[in-house]
Amino acid sequence: MIHLKINGQDVQAEEGMTVLQAAQQVGVTIPTLCDHPDLEAYGGCRLCVVDVKGWRTPMASCTMEVTNGMEVVTHSPEIETTRKTILEMLMSNYYDAGYENGQKQETQLMQWARHYGVDAKTGMAPAPRYAVNSDPNPFVWVDMNKCIQCTRCVRACTDIQGRFVWGMAERGINTHPVPGADTDMLDARCESCGACVAYCPTGALDNKMSMGAGKPDKLVMTTCGYCGVGCQYELNVKDNKVIRVTSTEKAPVNGNHLCVKGRYGYDFIHHPERLLKPQVRRYLLEGKKKPFISKPLALSNAEGSATSNQWDWVETDWDTALDITSQKLAGIKKEFGADTIGVLTSAKCTNEENYLMNKFTRQVLGTNNIDHCARL
Ligand code: SF4
Ligand code: SF4
Ligand code: FES
Repeated sequence: MIHLKINGQDVQAEEGMTVLQAAQQVGVTIPTLCDHPDLEAYGGCRLCVVDVKGWRTPMASCTMEVTNGMEVVTHSPEIETTRKTILEMLMSNYYDAGYENGQKQETQLMQWARHYGVDAKTGMAPAPRYAVNSDPNPFVWVDMNKCIQCTRCVRACTDIQGRFVWGMAERGINTHPVPGADTDMLDARCESCGACVAYCPTGALDNKMSMGAGKPDKLVMTTCGYCGVGCQYELNVKDNKVIRVTSTEKAPVNGNHLCVKGRYGYDFIHHPERLLKPQVRRYLLEGKKKPFISKPLALSNAEGSATSNQWDWVETDWDTALDITSQKLAGIKKEFGADTIGVLTSAKCTNEENYLMNKFTRQVLGTNNIDHCARL
């Protein structure tokens, strides 16, 4: 263990820990922007500076490793003034075009700006330097006017998602992330997972589907229904409608990470064509024989025949739908044999449901013809 002092308090820290981590473990909050516990330290924004005895200038605590005998001061009038100046400088290169982005809380940059009394309205750049919503990606909103060059998006895409979409381009005050060779995100192999959005501390990257949706009334923690991994996330709900999905480090399986389906595949929830009840073909519901169709259905319909009505989907209750299904399966098995039936299960089922389908197929139907959509 390394022994050091933080604000006069004796602290023990593991070798290799940063000063920031050592301070956090004893409950001292040091402001950060470019740092994130999921990402390699970068040391770019300098908001986390602290005084270290023997060092002439304030040091970035997120990149400085603890050493024996170190004496650190995390809060003093001078350090706080330095942090405020850093925020003012970041803000002078930031521009907010004033759109509503559907986030429940203000961004991390705005939280620290408020904390240090830096007014975003009067302190921000006088005019935008980039187009707002500059990338055609259907899910990720890109507004580089809000970028503070922290590279969290670059590190998230590279180190967590492994897609290497973002890189930093240009120099000095004009440095900013670009996808690929300054093309667009999808062209640069983006798979729209939204990790870069989740880690951006300023709203320069945001969720396009939530723009203009207003702020959510509540966050509802739930488990994703798309596959058996069991990722959790927060549904942002406004007026009983899901307007955004946010990942959270509280999720035990996935943390901040989500795939494109979990983060952006929620528009089916309120879709007018969403099936809410089972549907059965009319001829099955009326116990009639399968109508003969010699032409494509569209042509049969054009003729306006009674046959086409027999093919209509009709809403019914679960008992009726399941009775018809079981009768048809039993009939097929009796007439043609169990191996004429195949079962395809779904990644949207739980492991337990898929296990039951396996048992049902092999032991009830009597066939080994079972597969899963994840293998297709
Ligand atoms: S959405 Fe995912 S893959 Fe695309 S740039 Fe962001 S992190 Fe990379
Ligand atoms: S887009 Fe966001 S995450 Fe990426 S460098 Fe800019 S502020 Fe940081
Ligand atoms: S948080 Fe340490 S330099 Fe940005």
